[in-house]
Amino acid sequence: MVRITPKHVLLIKCVIHLVALSYLIVHYYWAFTDNLGADPVKAIIHFTGMGSINLLLITLCVSPVAKKYRQANLMKTRRLLGLYTAFYALCHISNYLFFDLQFDWGNLLQDIIKRPYITVGFLSFVILVALSITSPSAIQRAMKRTWQKLHNYVYLSLVLGITHYLWSLKTLTTEPLIYLLMSCFLLYLRKDKITLFKRRVT
Ligand code: HEM
Repeated sequence: MVRITPKHVLLIKCVIHLVALSYLIVHYYWAFTDNLGADPVKAIIHFTGMGSINLLLITLCVSPVAKKYRQANLMKTRRLLGLYTAFYALCHISNYLFFDLQFDWGNLLQDIIKRPYITVGFLSFVILVALSITSPSAIQRAMKRTWQKLHNYVYLSLVLGITHYLWSLKTLTTEPLIYLLMSCFLLYLRKDKITLFKRRVT
């Protein structure tokens, strides 16, 4: 089997940048040139929300795949994927704030407080932001063991993100069920870690 070297990691990172940024740019271009269907606001909120969930799931796939195929270098791609997860979530919320709520911060605050599915999405976002801010290696070294404890909250962010997604839907179709199953599977792979984490938190 091919060993993933630091050179491959660099190549994978370039591909991640290329795919994540070009998807975003193309969709915004379509939105502003009226090529995103009858409801471009809904479409761009949908695209960035799904993008964030997809990236979160991909990020959480890295470590089981790296362990199974003994590709330690692959772990070095997790940080970039995690940062793009948070960035897509930021775009998703900004789309909602700018295009749907017309910059009305008060309305956003009301939604976060009064609409449970938004509250849950907001909590998922807060965790993603905290993980992104503390992601640089220097902060990781400074935080020592607390860093790992904090970064275990990524599982809670996934639970909250998926709950927000399912809650936002009017009907449950096959696609969200596949997302739910994938999330359950990825969490199941970490069952020991999560049990330990739950014991420490409660
Ligand atoms: C304050 C935080 C958030 C707000 C205000 C927000 C707002 C929204 C809104 C308005 C919708 C559309 C619901 C509809 O079509 O009726 C939505 C859907 C969605 N959101 Fe969020 N969201 C937030 C956080 C997040 C986060 C952190 C994620 C990902 C981890 C996420 C992923 C999704 C997904 C996947 C959908 C479903 C897309 C669709 O089927 O159209 N959201 N969100």
